[in-house]
Amino acid sequence: MQYGRPDGTFDIVPPVPCGRKEARSFVNDSACWLHVESVFRSVCKTYGFAEIRTPIFEQTDLFHRAVGDGTDIVAKETYDFVTRGGDRLTLRPEGTAGAIRAYVSERLWIERPIAKLLYIGPNFRYERAQRGRYRQHHQAGVEVLGASMPSIDAEIIDLAVSFYRALGIDDITVKVNSVGTKESRASYLDALKAYAEPLLGEMSDDNKRRFEQNPLRMLDSKDKRDIALLQDAPNLIDFLDDASAEHFAKVCQYLTDLGIPFEIDHRLVRGFDYYTRTAFEIQCKVLGDKALGGGGRYNQLVEQLGGPATPGIGFGLGIERVLITMEELGLPRPSGNQLDAFLCPMGDAARDAATSIASNLRKAGLSVDIDYMGRRLKAMLEMADAGGAKYAIVIGDDEIASQTAAVRELATQSQQTIPLSELAMLIKG
Ligand code: HAM
Repeated sequence: MQYGRPDGTFDIVPPVPCGRKEARSFVNDSACWLHVESVFRSVCKTYGFAEIRTPIFEQTDLFHRAVGDGTDIVAKETYDFVTRGGDRLTLRPEGTAGAIRAYVSERLWIERPIAKLLYIGPNFRYERAQRGRYRQHHQAGVEVLGASMPSIDAEIIDLAVSFYRALGIDDITVKVNSVGTKESRASYLDALKAYAEPLLGEMSDDNKRRFEQNPLRMLDSKDKRDIALLQDAPNLIDFLDDASAEHFAKVCQYLTDLGIPFEIDHRLVRGFDYYTRTAFEIQCKVLGDKALGGGGRYNQLVEQLGGPATPGIGFGLGIERVLITMEELGLPRPSGNQLDAFLCPMGDAARDAATSIASNLRKAGLSVDIDYMGRRLKAMLEMADAGGAKYAIVIGDDEIASQTAAVRELATQSQQTIPLSELAMLIKG
């Protein structure tokens, strides 16, 4: 009996060995993942972020409260379960709610007046699986807690753009909007409903449901008819309170000062109830209408989740979508951890000695693999090549007797015999 992967998931496995035909997509290649994750961590480091890790499941109510009952995610997409002990838990569909829950549980504000947190991890949404949309997807994200000034909003967008650029993804579009405050949104929602009501008969079932449960989300419909019908709907930005309008104008000014091109998108409302003021998304043509990443400000969420009144802003980006984009753009495949040396022992004595020779090289910080199979020399050299090794180290009875090794540089095929004691130094170069 063999078992398949659950729908909407995929395996991430080591890269195809060197010299073989490349058939693996970036999304399945662990070397690509490690590269993207390490670039994300190093870019975040330059902005002063520190990493947090939170459970992949949380109390179901956390997501109802933070993300919102009327959102598509909570209404249709969460993986909810009851534990053997009777607790109602949910696999996290996104990272913000858990990060804020942890900020409150750990009282992080006491040690950090402004907490800059980064995270990387899987999220679960019961979506219609397709390329770029998975039931288990991975996000790299950041949250900044304790800072309400508009310069931070621009800094977060700048971080996202810097990350994509560091990977070679240059051709991106930054879309920004402001969703105001709960209060200023209320008068907008009245206007939006008044506009949409006469058109409801022609709208999708989803938008009919949204009209009742979460009218703002009608603007986010991907249905072409809905989009056309809402073309002339009123703009949120015209209903902003003065402070939100000023905040938004400053965010736009900072983005201009930073040299980040952006578009104001009046239809950008994002799929979560927690947003206040700035909302943004980053897109790349190769992904169509699927966003590379998105985020926004949430000035009430910490308080809503039992913490002190603390403004927040953050964003999350789908790592799978980044990898698909890199591959579509023809960017070079990040290479995996290549071996420094591959040990080719010939004969029993050499095989016995190989483990300790390799161990000494590893202690010197080199990455070393061994042929464990007793293959012929030609096959061992092919293995060394496939592992991307710089050197093949051939040891036979003579070498063991004289405590030497024959070191072959694979790129040049040049070979020399040197004492074992000098091996690490030679390989290190
Ligand atoms: P989100 O827009 O739902 O925001 O997700 C962020 C990114 O995760 C998306 O732009 C997309 O790249 C990726 N993503 C989402 N769902 C899927 C999926 N099913 N398959 C593949 N990729 C996906 C959030 O989750 C917010 N927590 C972001 C945030 C952080 N806002 C403030 N702080």
